[in-house]
Amino acid sequence: MTIVAVPDLTTTIGSVTLPSPVMTAAGTAGHGAELSAYVDLAAIGAVVVKSLAHFPWDGNDPLRVHQTPAGMINAVGLQGPGLDAWLRHDLPQLQRAGARVVASIWGRTVAEYERAATILAAAPDDVVAVEVNISCPNTEAGHALFAHSPEMTAEVIAATAGCERPRWAKLSPNAGPTLPTIAAAARDAGAEAVTLVNTYFGLSVDPVTGSARLGNGGGGVSGPAIRPLAVRAVADVHAAEPDIPIVGVGGIASVDDVVEFARVGARATQVGTATFVDPRTVGTLAADLGPWCANQGVARFVDLIGTAGL
Ligand SMILES: Cc1cc2nc3c(=O)[nH]c(=O)nc-3n(C[C@H](O)[C@H](O)[C@H](O)COP(=O)(O)O)c2cc1C
Repeated sequence: MTIVAVPDLTTTIGSVTLPSPVMTAAGTAGHGAELSAYVDLAAIGAVVVKSLAHFPWDGNDPLRVHQTPAGMINAVGLQGPGLDAWLRHDLPQLQRAGARVVASIWGRTVAEYERAATILAAAPDDVVAVEVNISCPNTEAGHALFAHSPEMTAEVIAATAGCERPRWAKLSPNAGPTLPTIAAAARDAGAEAVTLVNTYFGLSVDPVTGSARLGNGGGGVSGPAIRPLAVRAVADVHAAEPDIPIVGVGGIASVDDVVEFARVGARATQVGTATFVDPRTVGTLAADLGPWCANQGVARFVDLIGTAGL
């Protein structure tokens, strides 16, 4: 095996080029530069911020997070300052830190997504992409998740074109076997990529009180416990729709995990729950990927993508 002196870690996700395939995951690294005390935000692929709506939102009642075996369950409920406040107060901190920024947006109706996207048209070029978090309830349609229906997925993605930058559709793994169909619907409606996966539906009940531990009742499960499930979701979508760029996320906590996701088809990865264990993790993985590739004789990160022998 040839030892490679300086591997090329550049990756492309549709029209977006990033110097590293390791990013933060939405909702796990704050709205702004909160992680900058621990991570050089310019040295990771991008900072994906917590999902924002066109209005401020308080989120769910406590408790909002609870530790589970090899992970956590959360029902934060998309608390946020709203996009206008974010553009004024949080984005400048990220710009000063030299970060490439992916803005994540959400809404309760298609019109709210459209409004959020339109606000982002005025964002500076440091906002390199918009991740459209469609893994949340559609209040006009009985609270089914947008991302559980190919039609609703297409409608929301089409409605967000006004952000005038590349869009990634953040999909829900709870869609199960229809995930490749939903990914194709997102692509056909204008998404340049899909981000797989958001959290898995879960529930945690206190054995003494009999009540749900989280204020919201149910929540979303994340962390290493879901990694094989997320790897499977990425592999299934890549096998069915090999031309759709995929950003892989779910339980990533080591460089081996980053490479595992790349092997099944992810062009880039995001680190979420591992940040709560150690806030340096995303920076450590970005830094360690180069030596991993060098030791394995991998000259270019992109050469690993889709190389799993399945
Ligand atoms: C506390 C918490 C908050 C989250 N908030 C968001 C969010 O605002 N938007 C979103 O698209 N995903 C959100 N997620 C999902 C993560 O971005 C990620 O898809 C999921 O946790 C799986 O990755 P992980 O196992 O590395 O955490 C959140 C996850 C956690 C744990």
